[in-house]
Amino acid sequence: MAVDILIGLQWGDEGKGKIVDVLAPTYDIVARFQGGPNAGHTLEFEGTKHVLHQIPSGIFHPSIQNIIGNGVVLDPIVFRIEMQKLQDRGVDATQNLFISKKAALILPSHKLLDKVSEEALGKGKIGSTLKGIGPTYQDKIGRVGLRVGDILADDFKERYEKLLDRHRKTVEFYGHTLELGEQEQAFFDAVDYLRTLKLVDSEYMINNALKNGKRILAEGAQGSLLDVDFGTYPYVTSSTTLVAGACTGLGVAPRHIGEVYGIFKAYCTRVGSGPFPTELLDEVGEQIRQAGREFGSTTGRPRRCGWVDLPSLKYSIMLNGVTQLNMMKADVLTDFDVIKVCTHYRLPSGEITDQLPHSLEEEGIEPIYQELPGWRVDLNQIEAVEALPEAFNKYMSFLEEQLQVPITIASVGPDRKSTLRRENVKVV
Ligand code: GDP
Ligand code: IMO
Ligand code: MG
Repeated sequence: MAVDILIGLQWGDEGKGKIVDVLAPTYDIVARFQGGPNAGHTLEFEGTKHVLHQIPSGIFHPSIQNIIGNGVVLDPIVFRIEMQKLQDRGVDATQNLFISKKAALILPSHKLLDKVSEEALGKGKIGSTLKGIGPTYQDKIGRVGLRVGDILADDFKERYEKLLDRHRKTVEFYGHTLELGEQEQAFFDAVDYLRTLKLVDSEYMINNALKNGKRILAEGAQGSLLDVDFGTYPYVTSSTTLVAGACTGLGVAPRHIGEVYGIFKAYCTRVGSGPFPTELLDEVGEQIRQAGREFGSTTGRPRRCGWVDLPSLKYSIMLNGVTQLNMMKADVLTDFDVIKVCTHYRLPSGEITDQLPHSLEEEGIEPIYQELPGWRVDLNQIEAVEALPEAFNKYMSFLEEQLQVPITIASVGPDRKSTLRRENVKVV
C-alpha cells in the first residue's frame, strides 16, 4: 500500500481540513507531517464548525488512527486546549491520537522570539502567525531543540532551562527581557498532560501499517507557495510544505507515495506579507473576501484575495507531482459575470512567461488574464455533478487543460456534504 498525500497548492487555507475529513473514511490512518499551530484547518458537519491546529483532520472518525508526525512542531499549551475543545464536543481523542516522540516542542520562549524577531524586521516583517514556528524549526536545525520524547527524561527540566538560557540571550540581543509569566506554568502543566498520551515511534507505526496493507493519508499544512525552499522566500513558513516534507516528516520512503491530491481555491488568497501577483486591492477583492468569509482560521486576519494564478499552480503541481486536483470554493464566485484567470506573467523586461521568476517580489510583474463567463448559479445548492451549470463545467475544463491534471473533487460549500466527486474525468 501507498501513502496518499494532500497538499495545498497556493498560500494555504485552500480547504485542506475539509477535504481530509471527507476523504478520511477511506483511510486507516491520517497523519500530519509538518507545520504546527500556525495551521488552522476548518471542518464543518452537522451544523458545527471545528477548527484544528495541530491535530489531524481525521480525528472525528473514531476508527481512524491520527498521527502527529516527527516533522511537526508541537505547542503543548495549544494542543491541550485543542484536546479540551474536542472533549467539550464529545470527542475523546486520547485513544486514536498518536504523537511522534521526534516531533519538536514549541516552548513559550519560542513564541516570544517569534514576536521580537518580527518586530525587529519592521516593514519587512513576514507576517508570521507568531506561534513560534520559525524559532522552533531554527532550534531543530541548529540541533539544540527539545523533542516530545525528551519530556519522558528525568532531566527534562534541566534541558528546558539550558535552552531557555540560550533564548534569554537572544531575546536580550533584540533589546527585550525574557518574561514568560504564567506561560511557563501552563507549559509544564500541558507537558504533564502530554505524558499521559500515546507517544510513539511513528516512523515504525507508519511503515508497519504500510506493510500490513493499511491506507494512509498525509495531511499537508500551509501551502506550496509558503515552502521554505520553493515558496516566495523570505515570506514563507519554516518547513517543507511540499510532498517531499511528508517523506522526512513521517519517515516514508519516496517509493511509497501514491496519489497526490493538489488542493486549490477557484480564486486565490494569501494572509501575511509577501508578493501576490493577482491580488485584487479593489472592491472585487473585497467582494470575494466577504463572499468567501476570507478571515484567518488561526489569527482572524483578513485574507488578501485575488484571481486564480495558473503559473503558480503549474509550479506547485510540478514540485509535488500532483495526480488529482481538488477545486474549492467556486460557490464564492456566483455573483461574477466574468471570472478572470491569470495564464501568464509579463515580466519587467517585457518577456511573457508561464514560469515563476526567481523572485515574485520584483516590481512590475503583470498578470495576463483570460476572461471566462461566470455561471451565476448558486453552486452550493447543487447536489450532483450532472446538475452543474455549463459555464462552470467550461471553467473546470479550461483549468484542467491548462494544468494537465483532472479535477476529481469540486467543493461547493464549507459543509462535508457540499462536495462533488467527478469520476473518469479526461483531460484534453
Ligand atoms: P485549510 O487551512 O486549508 O484547512 O483551510 P481553512 O480552514 O483555513 O480555510 C478554508 C475556509 O473555507 C474554511 O472556513 C472552510 O470552512 C471554508 N470552505 C472550505 N471549502 C469551501 C467551499 O467549497 N466553499 C465555501 N464557501 N467555503 C469553503
Ligand atoms: P494552513 O495549514 C495560511 C503564513 C503566515 C505568514 C507565513 C509565516 O491553515 O493553510 P509562520 O507562522 O509559519 O511563521 O508564518 O506563513 N501561514 C499561513 N497562511 N495558512 C496557513 O496554514 C499558514 N501557516 C502560516 O500568515 O505569512
Ligand atoms: Mg487554514
